[in-house]
Amino acid sequence: MMEDIEKVRALFEKEINAADNLNELDRIRVRYLGKKGSITLLTRSLSRVPAEQRPALGQKINELKNAAGSMLEEKKEQLKSRAYSTRWDKERIDVTLPGSPYGLGRKHPITRVLEEIEEIFTGMGFQVAEGPDVELDYYNFEALNIPREHPARDMQDSYYIDEDVLLRTHTSPVQIRSMQEQAPRLPVRIIAPGKVYRRDDDVTHSPMFHQVEGLLVDKGISLADLKGTLLLFAQEMFGKKREIRLRPSFFPFTEPSAEVDISCIICDGRGCRVCKETGWLEILGSGMVHPRVLKMSGYDPEKVTGYAFGMGVERIAMLKYGVDDIRLFFTNDLRMLKQL
Ligand code: PHE
Repeated sequence: MMEDIEKVRALFEKEINAADNLNELDRIRVRYLGKKGSITLLTRSLSRVPAEQRPALGQKINELKNAAGSMLEEKKEQLKSRAYSTRWDKERIDVTLPGSPYGLGRKHPITRVLEEIEEIFTGMGFQVAEGPDVELDYYNFEALNIPREHPARDMQDSYYIDEDVLLRTHTSPVQIRSMQEQAPRLPVRIIAPGKVYRRDDDVTHSPMFHQVEGLLVDKGISLADLKGTLLLFAQEMFGKKREIRLRPSFFPFTEPSAEVDISCIICDGRGCRVCKETGWLEILGSGMVHPRVLKMSGYDPEKVTGYAFGMGVERIAMLKYGVDDIRLFFTNDLRMLKQL
């Protein structure tokens, strides 16, 4: 019996020394101290030993049991801390290594120009208004004095969704929405930035582009107010030296109407390739709000007047950044976007 005890002890020590992970350690525990474990079985076999030998053997077995228990505990701690330090070795961060570059995003040039335009006009007291991209024919044409059979509807090739619904072809419908919303309160003083859609696609036209609409309705507003406001805008946007000029034009919703040019930002008006030797660049359409438009939207044209303008944001961005193909703004080539 004494020999058996020593054998079990020797075997146990050998196994536990060899154990190199916690699962194996647990299997060893079961093999020795579990219900049918070798040490447990030694205790049971005591009953078959002559009574006078039992105390001494019992004590030996108990000693072995206790020793086995504490060795298991100790080994467990050892293995745990080793597992921890291997993981730490793998995860440790060398703070002296150079960092990996973190690509910061930036605003799209069109967004930047849009925000700049907004800032200039909000600085003059205009409020930002918005309307839906999917618009009713009524707001896009009808209420802007462009009746169904009016030839002006051919000026803009539209994306229709059904007979009465289309993708707006300009931001002018926001004029109508703003007036109808607040009529008859004065003044109406809004700018409306947003996307517009036309069936067009070449170096200077994109099927989707951006406009900023402006509208001011109040008592005694004249063409001089329009001109003054736009001159201030041109100088804030393109530099103090900028001059503007109004050319007679036609829009069904303004009367009179004018196309507005700024002196060329490349040659200051002397004539160059960009302004096609004219010294001028067209940047927007404008005019005095047509009396019929005022009336349809709840304002009395006998008592109030207004001006309106609409500019193409891409056109302004192209001039500002010297980009000669509008499609470059929408192909999302990071090299181009980073350069601007
Ligand atoms: N809506 C016109 C266009 O898209 C521009 C415009 C706006 C003209 C307001 C006059 C007044 O061409």
